[in-house]
Amino acid sequence: MTISLSRGTELTAEQAEARERIYAMPLEELNPGDPDHYPSGNMHFIFERLRAEDPVHFTPDEHSGDLEHYWSLTKWEDIQAADTNHELFSAEGIVTLNRPLTADEAAAPFNDGTMTPEEKEAIRARGTRSLLSMDPPDHETHRGAVSEGVSPANLAAMEPIIRERAGEILDSLPIGVEFDFVDKVSVELTAMTLATLFDYPQEKRRQLTRWSNIQTSEPGPGMPAETMEEKNAARREFFVAMSDIIERRRAEPPRMDFLSLMANSPHSQNYTETELVGDCGVLLVGGNDTTRNTISGSIYLLDRNPEENAKLRANPKLIPSMVSETIRWQTPLTHMARRTTRDVEIKGKVIPKGDRVAMWYLSGNRDEDKIQNADAYIIDRKNPRQHLSFGFGIHRCLGNKLAELQLKVIWEEMLVRFPEINVIGEPDRSHSNFVRGYEEMTVVIPRRN
Ligand code: HEM
Repeated sequence: MTISLSRGTELTAEQAEARERIYAMPLEELNPGDPDHYPSGNMHFIFERLRAEDPVHFTPDEHSGDLEHYWSLTKWEDIQAADTNHELFSAEGIVTLNRPLTADEAAAPFNDGTMTPEEKEAIRARGTRSLLSMDPPDHETHRGAVSEGVSPANLAAMEPIIRERAGEILDSLPIGVEFDFVDKVSVELTAMTLATLFDYPQEKRRQLTRWSNIQTSEPGPGMPAETMEEKNAARREFFVAMSDIIERRRAEPPRMDFLSLMANSPHSQNYTETELVGDCGVLLVGGNDTTRNTISGSIYLLDRNPEENAKLRANPKLIPSMVSETIRWQTPLTHMARRTTRDVEIKGKVIPKGDRVAMWYLSGNRDEDKIQNADAYIIDRKNPRQHLSFGFGIHRCLGNKLAELQLKVIWEEMLVRFPEINVIGEPDRSHSNFVRGYEEMTVVIPRRN
C-alpha cells in the first residue's frame, strides 16, 4: 500500500527513501509546485518539512521548473490570513501556479482564425478574468449574478434529481466484475449535476466533462487533449457553445440555471468576452474535478481504513462527517494563488510586492498545530468541517453545499445497495499540482444487499 502519510503511519521502504531524499535537499531547492511529486504523494514530505523549517517558503526561478519563482504558505494560520485579506493578496488575473499562457493559448477561445499576433498579445496581456480571479467590486457583481443557482431552495429542488440519477447509475453497475469506478460513477454523477446546473442537454453531458478535463490538463499523449491545437480548439468550442446558449437565454423567460442567471444579470451585457468565458469556465471546472475526486477519494479511503468503513456501515448518520473528513483529507484543489499588492512581512520573511503566493490548502489541512492527528483519516472527528479545502474569505467555494449534498446522496444510495466495495490495486493518480485526484480506480462490488 502506498498511501501517503507522513506521521504515525508506517512508511513503505520507497516512501521512507523519498522522505529521506527530500530532507537531505537544500531548502531553496524545494519546489512543492512540481507536478511530478503528486502521483507518488511525495509532496506531503515537502510540506511536512516546510511547515517545520520554512513555513513561508520561496522557490527561485532556477528551482521552479517552468513555473517561475513563487512563494508558498504552508501553515494553517498564514493560509487563512492571506485568503481573508484580498487587499494585500489580490486574486486579480491569477488562480493557480500554472505556467503562464502564451498569446496563442490566451486568445484561442476567441480566435476565429483571423486574429493578428497583436490582437492575441492584447488578450494575453489583459490576463485571465473570472469571478475566481477578480477583486471587489467586480467580484461581487460576477459572483452575485450566479449565486442563486446554488441557493438553499435550488439545492432542495436538485436533491431528488441527484438521488434519482445516482440510483440509476448505481443500479447499472456490474456485480462481481472489475470496473473503473471513476468513469462509471464519479464522472457520471458530476456530469449529470453539471448538466442540471447549466440546464444543458443531459445526453450531451459528457461534452461538459471533456471541456473541463481539457481545460485543467496540459496536452500530451494519453491526456484529454493530445496536442495544444486540440486543446485550443476545444476551448474555442466551449466559448462558442456558451456564448450561443447565453444569447438564447436572454430571449427566454429567466430560469434558475447558471447560464440563465448570468444572461439575465443586469451587469452581464457589459462583461468582456474573456470574463464571460472565464465565469462559465469556473462554473464548469469548479464543480467537476473537485466533487468527482472526492467521490473517488471516499471509496479509496474507506477501503484502506477498514475500521472507519465499519463505523460508517454501523452508523449511516456519520455520512455527513465522513464527507467532510474526506474533503479535508483529499483536498481536491491543493492550492489557490494570489499576488501581493505591496511588500508583506510574514514570520520574518518579506514577500515583495507583485510576487505570486500559493496558499497550500493541502498543507494547512495537515497542520498539527490546528488539527490533531492530521495525517489520519477519522470519519467521526469532533469538528469535521474545520478544513481549508473550500478556501476562506470572499472567494470561499460557491458550490460547497452542493458538493456536500452530492456526496451525501451518493453514499446514502450506496449504503443501501452494496455491503462492500473493494478497491483493486492502486488507483492511477492525476499528474497535477492543482487538481488532486484519480484518473482511474479499479473496484469490485462482490454482491448487492
Ligand atoms: C469538494 C468539492 C469542491 C471543492 C474542494 C471546491 C474548492 C474550491 C476552492 C478551493 C475555491 C477557491 C476558494 C478561495 O479562493 O478562497 C472554490 C471556488 C469556487 N467553487 Fe468550488 N469546490 C468544490 C465544489 C464546487 C461545486 C460543486 C461547484 C459548483 C457550482 C463549485 C463552484 C465554485 C465557484 C463558482 C468558485 C469561485 C467562487 C469565487 O471566486 O467567489 N465548487 N472552490
